[in-house]
Amino acid sequence: MTQSEVSTAHTAKVIGVSVAAAVGGFLFGFDSAVINGAVDAIQGHFDLGSFGLGISVAITLLGCAAGAWFAGRIADRLGRKRVMLLGSALFTVSALGSGLAVTVFDLMAWRVIGGVGIGIASVIAPTYIAEIAPARYRGALASLQQLALTIGIFAALLSNAVLANFASGAANELWFGLQAWRWMFLVEFIPAAAYGILAVLIPESPRYLVERFRDQEAVEVLLTYTGDHDPQERVREIRHTLHHERPTSFADIRGSTFGLNRLVWIGIGLAAFQQLVGINAIFYYSTTLWRSVGFTESQSFITSVITSVINVTMTFVAILFVDRFGRRNLMMIGSLGMFVSLLFTAIAFSQATGSGDNVQLANPWGAIALAGANLFVVFFAATWGPVMWVLLAEMFPNDMRTVAMGTAAMANWLTNFVVTLFVPVMTQSVGLWILYGLFAFFALMSFFFIRSKLPETTGKELEEMEA
Ligand code: BGC
Repeated sequence: MTQSEVSTAHTAKVIGVSVAAAVGGFLFGFDSAVINGAVDAIQGHFDLGSFGLGISVAITLLGCAAGAWFAGRIADRLGRKRVMLLGSALFTVSALGSGLAVTVFDLMAWRVIGGVGIGIASVIAPTYIAEIAPARYRGALASLQQLALTIGIFAALLSNAVLANFASGAANELWFGLQAWRWMFLVEFIPAAAYGILAVLIPESPRYLVERFRDQEAVEVLLTYTGDHDPQERVREIRHTLHHERPTSFADIRGSTFGLNRLVWIGIGLAAFQQLVGINAIFYYSTTLWRSVGFTESQSFITSVITSVINVTMTFVAILFVDRFGRRNLMMIGSLGMFVSLLFTAIAFSQATGSGDNVQLANPWGAIALAGANLFVVFFAATWGPVMWVLLAEMFPNDMRTVAMGTAAMANWLTNFVVTLFVPVMTQSVGLWILYGLFAFFALMSFFFIRSKLPETTGKELEEMEA
């Protein structure tokens, strides 16, 4: 084989294992968005008010926060692969339990279990990919997880729309006496089981292997999958960056900035801003949102599916540019684009007429709200969606990565929880336009945050990251 054939073979292998790990991203997307189409039927079925509705959607996210928090620690003790297996088991149990839920309380419990799976997947998929990928296209490979995530959201919304359509409404019976909304959860069993099988097949992360003194195995993985020219030297470098001989713990992220290392705070800031711009007001509630401004149920389902296609498509932009154009530049463009589009959406919502169940957006405001919300998704998906996760997976040094990543990811989920909880309540109390105005404000703040705080990580090896 020629040198270039050898490197093509390695590239194919590393893409293969990255895709397999990214199935965790698919489940992250599917499981977090599946609620979107089921939400109205659940509200009707269990007779919930707007706060009860907010809780039943948001509670999953507390599970996500817990999952993210523990994932890093477990990954350091048991290995990245075993954590993926655990995630797969949790997704499987949650899919079946939620679909067959008897009361709103056990439904919430099953959703929390799925949430732990999502939190785990959100940490382990990008970490694993960043740890196995060569620096020159690490950004693109780690963005695969977000691509899978957006495909997961799309698949959930599409399957929701198809199932609701079969039953002529999410609340109607579909097969075996079970309503369509129950099937929305049950179908997740298939990708959840597939994830478990894939997790068995992929190799362990070389960074984990070195940490556990399994250097020879690490050399083999590097040789087979990354085509590293001098894998022995890489293993020595990894060893050199691990300043202690025990698994990473919370002590490793302590520091002098309010008790934590400064870089960890930057990670937490990134993670929080990614949610404060309100992306999940769209992805968890868009069906309800469009119905609330006068769209029919089926128009709202279709609009949600279209938005999720835009989300998938625009992720390719990030994959193409993240390693060439740099993380900082992409994030700053994203912040400004999100600010402008959210501002237009807020202005459009301020023009709504009517009240209660009879709200209307007269033209051109309906069209402007639609365009603004979708343009917001365009900018988010091409920048902050994938790049925030890429950054969290790569910006921390080896001796704190998993715990620091887990902590920042937990902050992402907790912020997501707060936003998700308050979307229905704020929509009812202060109105959509104030809500979207706030999102626009946070988008603008995120620009200044990136400009003043974020270090550039593009093209650097993980061994070069400094706290
Ligand atoms: C965010 C999720 C969001 C998704 C939308 C992810 O990067 O973390 O909260 O639902 O993007 O594509």
